Amino acid sequence: MNFALYNPQNGAPNPEKALRMFPQLSEFHQHLGQTPLMPVPGPKGGARILAKCEFENPFGSVKDRAAFGLFCDAINQHDFSQGQLKLLDASGGNMGRALAMLGKLCDIPVHLVVPDSSPDTLIKALYDARADVTLVDRQHFLLGLIARAQDIARRDPGWTLLSQHLNLANVAVHQYQTGQEIRQQLHGGKADGWVAAVGTGGTLSGVYAALVQDNPSLKVQGTTPWELPFGTMAPPNGKNKFAGAGGMGFGFRQPFITRMPVDDLPFFKVSWEDALAAMFEFHQLTGVRIGASSAANWKSAYHLARSMGPHELVVTLFADAGSDSDRETGQEFFNCNEPVHS
Ligand SMILES: Cc1ncc(COP(=O)(O)O)c(C=O)c1O
Repeated sequence: MNFALYNPQNGAPNPEKALRMFPQLSEFHQHLGQTPLMPVPGPKGGARILAKCEFENPFGSVKDRAAFGLFCDAINQHDFSQGQLKLLDASGGNMGRALAMLGKLCDIPVHLVVPDSSPDTLIKALYDARADVTLVDRQHFLLGLIARAQDIARRDPGWTLLSQHLNLANVAVHQYQTGQEIRQQLHGGKADGWVAAVGTGGTLSGVYAALVQDNPSLKVQGTTPWELPFGTMAPPNGKNKFAGAGGMGFGFRQPFITRMPVDDLPFFKVSWEDALAAMFEFHQLTGVRIGASSAANWKSAYHLARSMGPHELVVTLFADAGSDSDRETGQEFFNCNEPVHS
């Protein structure tokens, strides 16, 4: 398996060629990003917490940004006089949905390698968007997905492998767009802490690169599933984990994270049960629907904020809105759990 990073960028990929060739993208593009930064409940006496509400993106998640960035980058690099562009990638969920929707809009074939534990609603959405789907045994998540996508690309070079885990255009999108938006939304203020779950690590590392410009002592904390934490030597497993973020297993570390100029990056572990309970709790407290990785980030940010002072600020990110069925399951866990907010 190839784990080399490639395609560094000095800005988010330029969307001009994509918008010129596929004007039907313009509505999506107009509504992409510029998501709200919302104050969320934090610990008494601790730092304030703000969350970037990425569920406001057109297809409902932070991955709309990375998908569009990688999509534009592939279009910029493709010579259409030599044949059709066909896109392939491995995805835990939201990236797949966003790529499939973009492919459908532009009539560009998309092939997604996803775990066989993906919710039926996701698989149906992928098929409805006419994507090709390869299912990989959930026991091999996430390394198995990357290996299978690389294998498909090797056997049929007609597919352009986007490699969201290795393609630095993913990091650039968050450094130059998500992170810059947060800086603007702080109106000259600075974040003292930055917390995000790690799928590819594009969000955590890209936004960090933006926010650290205003505060060289910015604290950064990853959020990771308790069932397969970041960097664990344990093998991958098929246990339930909060969606969108998974450790790799066998000691592998997401390459975007290993290149961050931070020693001993701390990770806060959140179990699937705790994430779902926090989804329910957050909705009860605020009326806002957030997904499992968002709820895990809230819990993680809360933990960091407790160790900081009331004049400090922790920023986190809510990647998607999650499902009502997960919130209902979360209610059962909530009833026998410590609440996040007290
Ligand atoms: C719900 C959710 N949370 C968090 C992430 C992590 O994003 P990144 O890949 O930028 O680390 C993802 C990525 O798919 C996601 O779907």
